[in-house]
Amino acid sequence: MVHRCFVIALLVFGVWSSGAMARAIGDAPVQAKFEQWMAKYGRLYMDATEQERRFQIFKDNYEYIESVNRAGNLTYRLGLNHFADMTDEEFKSSHLRAQVNSRRPKSTTGSFRYANLNNLPKSVNWITSGAVTNAKSQGGCGSCWAFTAVAAIEGIAQIKTGNLITLAPQQLVDCDHHSSGCRWGYRGSAFSYVISNGGIASEVDYPFKGVVGNCKANQSLHLAATIDGYEFVPANNETALMQAVANQPV
Ligand SMILES: *[C@@H]1O[C@H](CO)[C@@H](O)[C@H](O)[C@H]1NC(C)=O
Ligand SMILES: *[C@@H]1O[C@H](CO)[C@@H](O)[C@H](O)[C@H]1NC(C)=O
Ligand SMILES: *[C@@H]1O[C@H](CO)[C@@H](O)[C@H](O)[C@H]1NC(C)=O
Repeated sequence: MVHRCFVIALLVFGVWSSGAMARAIGDAPVQAKFEQWMAKYGRLYMDATEQERRFQIFKDNYEYIESVNRAGNLTYRLGLNHFADMTDEEFKSSHLRAQVNSRRPKSTTGSFRYANLNNLPKSVNWITSGAVTNAKSQGGCGSCWAFTAVAAIEGIAQIKTGNLITLAPQQLVDCDHHSSGCRWGYRGSAFSYVISNGGIASEVDYPFKGVVGNCKANQSLHLAATIDGYEFVPANNETALMQAVANQPV
């Protein structure tokens, strides 16, 4: 009996949510999700007006997530994270800063090292091969340049040594003085720093803080991985990109 009532209730919500009554009744489950989400991420709003505004944004995002997952034709599922009360525009302006590539230091080699590679595999998955660490959050620190550089080093280090070690973008944020910490930076100069420093520490030894700090003295750090060169994949060239990706995460 209890089960039947529950199913009927759900059906009613489903029908009404497309009608005029949707607001009052259909919002209740999403409102509950929103409150759970607020508790999970410790979110508090200035006043009831702001909370209502954030709820509406959350609801749009939540419904988008549900509809994509319902379609079920993708190789991934979406979920709620701590950005769920932000609009796309807010997220873009606060987290997707332009990657600065002009004035980047030159690659250490002249020609593209994989240029002559033929018989490329149709697909490569470096995640299932174990060469990619978990997704991370840079928080409010514009350090995508450091995270991407670190991910490339993590990948090649795993392929060469068999050990997947999460490395420390914070070390680049603090120590790569050709970049500008949490404002912008160059992947190239991040690689150059790692080469000249003789390596980079692990995330465990040099945890991410999301603000610029003092560069920790080299002597006190255990360097977990290093590289002896780097180069950029030729731009706008899918063949070159496939050649690179056949060899390592890019
Ligand atoms: C998945 O299905 C939706 C709805 O049917 C469709 O709009 C979308 O293009 C599909 N996506 C892919 C990657 O097939
Ligand atoms: C793309 O790169 C490959 C080598 O990786 C090169 O042979 C080819 O000429 C390049 N194509 C263009 C359009 O630059
Ligand atoms: C850091 O230490 C490594 C050896 O562990 C050394 O090769 C490198 O030159 C040092 N870097 C600096 C900036 O002192």
